[in-house]
Amino acid sequence: MKIVDGEIYIGGISASEIACLYGTPTYVYDEQAIRANYRRAFSAFSRYYPDFKFFYAVKACNNPAVCSILVDEGAGIDAASVNEIKLAASLGKGGEEIMFSGNFLSEDDIRLGLQSGAIFNLDDISILPRVLKHGTPEIISFRVNPGYGRSNVGEFVTNAGPNAKFGLHPDQVMEAYKSAKDAGIKRFGAHMMPGSCITDCDYFPFITGLLMDIVGKAGRELGIDFEFIDLGGGLGIPYLPDEDKLDLERAAELTSEMFKSKISEYGLAPPRLKMEPARYFVGDAGFIVGRVHSIKHSYKNIIGTDIGMNTLARPAMYGAYHNILVNRKEGDPRATFGLCGQLCENTDFWVKERELPSTICEGDIVVVENAGAYGYAMSYQYNGRLRPAEVLVNGTKHALVRPREEYEDMVRGTSIPDWLGSGKK
Ligand SMILES: Cc1ncc(COP(=O)(O)O)c(C=O)c1O
Repeated sequence: MKIVDGEIYIGGISASEIACLYGTPTYVYDEQAIRANYRRAFSAFSRYYPDFKFFYAVKACNNPAVCSILVDEGAGIDAASVNEIKLAASLGKGGEEIMFSGNFLSEDDIRLGLQSGAIFNLDDISILPRVLKHGTPEIISFRVNPGYGRSNVGEFVTNAGPNAKFGLHPDQVMEAYKSAKDAGIKRFGAHMMPGSCITDCDYFPFITGLLMDIVGKAGRELGIDFEFIDLGGGLGIPYLPDEDKLDLERAAELTSEMFKSKISEYGLAPPRLKMEPARYFVGDAGFIVGRVHSIKHSYKNIIGTDIGMNTLARPAMYGAYHNILVNRKEGDPRATFGLCGQLCENTDFWVKERELPSTICEGDIVVVENAGAYGYAMSYQYNGRLRPAEVLVNGTKHALVRPREEYEDMVRGTSIPDWLGSGKK
């Protein structure tokens, strides 16, 4: 993103042009930024540990165009559901190029997951016998909760530790791998996902050490080698204006040092090192272009835009911060405003106080930054305010990659049972 003569550009296309061509609100993804993010991260980790692979966690932004960029860069897919496995298949990914890290799986999830040949990453020991009823997977992985988790939005995206719903307790890890080995499974991996959006580079070697101590002991005692160890996602991006960036090089160096030292401590054959980031690849490469519809001066001065909590759920859900820019006005003096969307919910008043250009007025275009991860993917229809369009930009090229929803999308598949008549009076 850059500002030229006051106009905000995403890639080589201006926010005004986006609004004019595609309407508002519209999610815009910058292909070059996604590729640059991937390459920076891959080069850092693979430099220190060459047998390294990324699996993109498609939950963060599942637009097939965006996913295809990461697949093209060489990423496998981390899928949270069978539908995400199907999405991966539509992009040419199959078998062990997919990590299936589902949670509280149904029988259908297990059956279809097995059929797909994806690597099963079991969130609990109780799922193993259920999987074995359907067949014996080639390779199995367990998601370990190492007892510690952290995130930039507190408890909300802290995915490990005593209060998390995810993963095996360390005390169950030995039994889990033993049961899998006894069942005839010969190939193993191990996984964790302790937290999201961490910009402190010391966190990564720390959690690596925790996981390796747990699985290293199991590997040594059971005489099993791990083909891979997956450290999950968590590579953070700064959301707040004064927040430091993650020192990726240092994180990669420290993590691989810790990884190698634990491999030798436990006498393991060197496994492939995997990570499955999402936010780092797509977070700062995605924007929402919206419009100011009215400005209200009541108890507070409130700017009403078409970007509601249904468009971007993170602020209402987690209290997350997103920077907001006003097109052509960023150089103007500032005043304090609140900012909201159009929903009948007060949580839609998602910025309570922010310094924004005092000259902001109806019709202005606003741009929300860092919206590429957990943005559109968490959007929903409420109050008949439907999901926005998605556009991909590469330099001055741009394309609609998902149309804006219409009334038909809101009622698709619904019906009124006979006993209610037509529903019309
Ligand atoms: C299992 C798993 N892997 C990877 C990710 C991606 O995490 P991040 O966006 O922090 O990189 C998530 C996110 O919640 C996840 O649940």
